[in-house]
Amino acid sequence: MFFIMIVLGIETSCDETSLALVSDGQANGAAKNAPALSLQKNKILAMETWSQLEEHRPFGGVVPEVAARAHLDKIMPLLTNLFRKANLPLSAVDAIAATHGPGLIGGLIVGAMLGKVLSFALNKPLVAVNHLAAHALSVRLDNPAITFPYLTLLVSGGHCQLLLVRGVDDFLLYGETLDDSAGEAFDKGARLLGLPQPGGPAIEHCAKQGVAARFPLPTPMKGVAGCDFSFSGLKTALKNKIMKQENFAVADAAASLQQAIGESLKEKSLAAMKKYKNEVNNSTQPRHFCLVGGVAANQFIRGLLQDAAHDEGFSFVAPAAKLCTDNGAMIGWAGIEMLRAGISHDIDYKPRPRWATTDLNPSRQLHNNLQQI
Ligand code: KG4
Ligand code: ZN
Repeated sequence: MFFIMIVLGIETSCDETSLALVSDGQANGAAKNAPALSLQKNKILAMETWSQLEEHRPFGGVVPEVAARAHLDKIMPLLTNLFRKANLPLSAVDAIAATHGPGLIGGLIVGAMLGKVLSFALNKPLVAVNHLAAHALSVRLDNPAITFPYLTLLVSGGHCQLLLVRGVDDFLLYGETLDDSAGEAFDKGARLLGLPQPGGPAIEHCAKQGVAARFPLPTPMKGVAGCDFSFSGLKTALKNKIMKQENFAVADAAASLQQAIGESLKEKSLAAMKKYKNEVNNSTQPRHFCLVGGVAANQFIRGLLQDAAHDEGFSFVAPAAKLCTDNGAMIGWAGIEMLRAGISHDIDYKPRPRWATTDLNPSRQLHNNLQQI
């Protein structure tokens, strides 16, 4: 049994400034903020997001200093709008969850400092959230049926990982990319094809008019055992083919790139599902496969992985599209999950540009490493 808890989530790790007020939605405790809250069914009470797309467009990619300055410009107006939209006072917040890594340090400092100041001024706990863990936990916001352990494919602009999620701070890495992430493959591919950034949505849109078979590309890491990915060769293959083939339809190339990325994600996910069945759960207990991160917004890839999961006897869950790309709600939700598990952080916890999901709880990590020997 939990009391209704409201957490402010703060996300500033890359190029979205996003703040959200998230409640744990449990109505079986005394609602401190009743009656307004007891009427709220939705766990996301309000969310305000500023996407820095236009700021970075002239540079063709995210520029860290431009990102940090844009976070600084936008974060206070967003905070004011957020509370106005939710019709709640600052004092309604029970805790503050701010992304502390991994990501671009300038942006992380802006968000983490706002979190620390509010935590200090309101005398409420601070949760230093790992951005990747927040993506992985985001599936539980709308799906209470997803219980630990579950398998997750995290596909974003910076990461591509297959993870066994055993608890809020207990992640086991099944495989990851050896070079570029799937999101990077979309973004770099879009650049080569003259499509706008971010490349993923642009490729997905363009691919709808194309036929992949008219512009065949190799499936990365096809037939290679294990759960690791590699996407840098796909970019080279696309570049070489564009240079060799004078007449081709951009839509065909986009469809083929999307298919090659999707097939590779599917092959390694199937390997991870088999590993999970062998090592974790070969019983009739429910098995869950979750798809998270910006690339999870792609409908074609969602379809491929949903079919693969069902074929292997897993349920398939992906967050709503607006919760796939970076957002404050997943950070607020991760804060709720961690507070429920008794985890909060000192106010001087430092933002970390590099922070692996397997390094959330150092003592547990040592135990996991020993188990794998
Ligand atoms: O999770 P995210 O918003 O930020 C990071 O943490 O990196 O992911 C951004 C990535 C970008 O590479 C973007 O091109 C990709 O997600 N993405 C997509 C789609 N929407 C965003 N990729 C494929 N299809 C989409 N619809
Ligand atoms: Zn992300």
